[in-house]
Amino acid sequence: MSTASLPISIAQITKTYGKTFALDHVDLEVRSGEFLTLLGPSGSGKTTLLTVLAGFTRPDGGSLKFGGTEMVTVPPHKRNVGMVFQNYALFPHMNVADNVGFPLKLRGVKSAEIRQRCERALEMVRLGGYGTRGVDQLSGGQRQRVALARAMVFEPRIMLMDEPLSALDKQLREHMQIELRQLHDKLGMTTVYVTHDQREALTMSDRIAVINAGRIMQLDTPRAIYERPKNRFVAEFIGESTFLPVVVTGGQVHLGHQALRTAVVPQTDGPQLLMLRPERLRLMGVNAIADTACNTIDATLVATVYQGDSSLFQAALPDGTLVSVRGSSSGSLAPGAPLRLSVAIEDTVLLAMEPAA
Ligand SMILES: Nc1ncnc2c1ncn2[C@@H]1O[C@H](COP(=O)(O)OP(=O)(O)OP(=O)(O)O)[C@@H](O)[C@H]1O
Ligand SMILES: [Mg+2]
Repeated sequence: MSTASLPISIAQITKTYGKTFALDHVDLEVRSGEFLTLLGPSGSGKTTLLTVLAGFTRPDGGSLKFGGTEMVTVPPHKRNVGMVFQNYALFPHMNVADNVGFPLKLRGVKSAEIRQRCERALEMVRLGGYGTRGVDQLSGGQRQRVALARAMVFEPRIMLMDEPLSALDKQLREHMQIELRQLHDKLGMTTVYVTHDQREALTMSDRIAVINAGRIMQLDTPRAIYERPKNRFVAEFIGESTFLPVVVTGGQVHLGHQALRTAVVPQTDGPQLLMLRPERLRLMGVNAIADTACNTIDATLVATVYQGDSSLFQAALPDGTLVSVRGSSSGSLAPGAPLRLSVAIEDTVLLAMEPAA
């Protein structure tokens, strides 16, 4: 299989349906050989962007380049991209080998070579020897892998995948996530992957583009998206969090009367939001000595919810605001107990004030 791959350059791509901006002046650079995931809620424009890349949707404006070549006016069959969609749409009346060989047949490849390349593609997805099976004799995960083999068989330099695993049960999905990623690492094709499952995106991607209402809200590594969200939408969409209003004066952050140290010293004064992830907070007794790399916040325990592998604690700040804390299920704390929350300075993240998403 080919390991050549191409970068994708998307500039100011816009697509409207009536008054709806499915894509709103999208800029996005996908690096050569990168696994990039579009992550966003339903209706945010993920599929639209993928169909623009594939050539099925003509944008109203903007530029799309594969390896420097403008593609907007190039028809789908000349773009040479591999595609896998949610409902793997195999041809039910053809066996596995004929399904996989179909793109080669379309391209006029000779049948002996088709046979050879099909078998190689099937081995790649660990279905060697399945060529003569009917597609109705396969499990969901196997069908998904046949669809993948079909997308790869003509050695595309760009692979597009739209929620390819969403129809599978959890166990198979998690298994396929790892298989897909390994396959990508082996073949090295530039991949744009769509999901609305945050864990899937965090697991599989080199970078994630979080998209909302046709706009990219943040493009970053999984770790940066989770630990350093740039805005409230990204912070709320990925993981759990509590947001507390704070006031910044002269670079100093105040939560009520308490001063806090933050990962990044804020440059502008005024109201901002403090984001706290439940699993990054610790509960401490009032007399315990906090780590010097931590902030402590006075609170009172309100409730404990046992959740098996961990417990969720609700703590109230002096002004009554509730904060969630995830912690060990062992030990018992009585409701009403005064305590302190500790949060590492590097986990103390500020966001600009903006309306909730
Ligand atoms: N053919 C169309 N005609 C009219 N509106 C459309 C069409 N295709 C998409 N839209 C609208 O464009 C917006 C983006 O749709 P898109 O299918 O790209 O969302 P998505 O992020 O893929 O959502 P999902 O997670 O539900 O698949 C939505 O508001 C949708 O209703
Ligand atoms: Mg979609």
